[in-house]
Amino acid sequence: MATMVDVARSAGVSVATVSHVLNDTRPVLPDTRQAVLSAIEELGYIPNTLARSLVTSRTRSIGLAVSAISNPYFTEILQGVEAGSLEHGYSLLIADPHDDPEHELKVGRLLHERRVDGMIVAPSADPDALVAYLGRHSVPTVFLDRVVEAPADDASPSDQAGPFDQVCAENIGPTAQLVTHLAGLGHRRIGLVAGLPGLSTTGERIAGYRHGLAAAGLPYDERLLAHGDSESAAAERATAALLSLAAPPTALVTANNAMTIGALRALRERGLSVPGDLALCCFDDFAWADLFEPRLTAIAQPSREIGAEAVRLLLDRLAAPDRPARVLRLPCAFVHRTSCGCPDQPEKHTKGNVS
Ligand code: HPA
Repeated sequence: MATMVDVARSAGVSVATVSHVLNDTRPVLPDTRQAVLSAIEELGYIPNTLARSLVTSRTRSIGLAVSAISNPYFTEILQGVEAGSLEHGYSLLIADPHDDPEHELKVGRLLHERRVDGMIVAPSADPDALVAYLGRHSVPTVFLDRVVEAPADDASPSDQAGPFDQVCAENIGPTAQLVTHLAGLGHRRIGLVAGLPGLSTTGERIAGYRHGLAAAGLPYDERLLAHGDSESAAAERATAALLSLAAPPTALVTANNAMTIGALRALRERGLSVPGDLALCCFDDFAWADLFEPRLTAIAQPSREIGAEAVRLLLDRLAAPDRPARVLRLPCAFVHRTSCGCPDQPEKHTKGNVS
């Protein structure tokens, strides 16, 4: 197998020059660069990234830990992370912590042992052990989707989680908009099928639900709030419980795509139709949300951008380890279709900071 020395000899340059061409570490004259590339091609030289890592202490790899990878929302995040990483010459190691704090710490350690240059993590509902580990070992990390609170004794401003960069979607305003939209259509008993307790996304969407009720002049009734988790089965049970109330809701907000699927199953089980028997507005758009009948009125999260932005934040952090941590909130879009009970209409997206 050809070595770097063979390439250097064949191109008539030093090994260091071959290295600069391969790693873009210093400008190389165009003719010299071309001679090196031609020699690489001719000899069939394959760079050995393991050998390079021993010299540079960098592996040009990013560890990505995201639960529920089969959920289309997280799959799109993964696509954004993958595209951004590839663009900058990084490869990915992917792990699924299954929203389990113990498993999350285990995969965090494994990725660290593999010497990834940094990590992108969608934290679980109880990420303290992982956060402490990453902090202790100064692992450059970006949290995405779910924000991690700064430790209580941290003096940084409230939207800054100590040393960690974070990127997520707006949750409060968009959820409030779903509620005010339903209230504007005359609904007075609007239920919420919330996500996994303990996640910041769940807490913020519940806050948004309450904001929306208050803005519409409706009281908050805790009986109309039912918790699911990250899977549709729990949402099915939660929706069934709401429908069994003495005064069941006339409209539902579902707090993520898995909750929507569970809610739709529970409604079908009871032979209830949307929006005739019950209006439905969902957090999370998905590729086939406009294929269902009725077409789902939904909040679309900028999932790919969240992934791409996480890579940008991580690469910035690697380039400037001491810069202050940043928390980015990306706007969502309100996608107005018909499950809310509005008459058939061309699909309308309202971009920006919905509120
Ligand atoms: N967070 C945000 N959006 C989501 C999630 C989640 O965990 N699951 C499905 N959509």
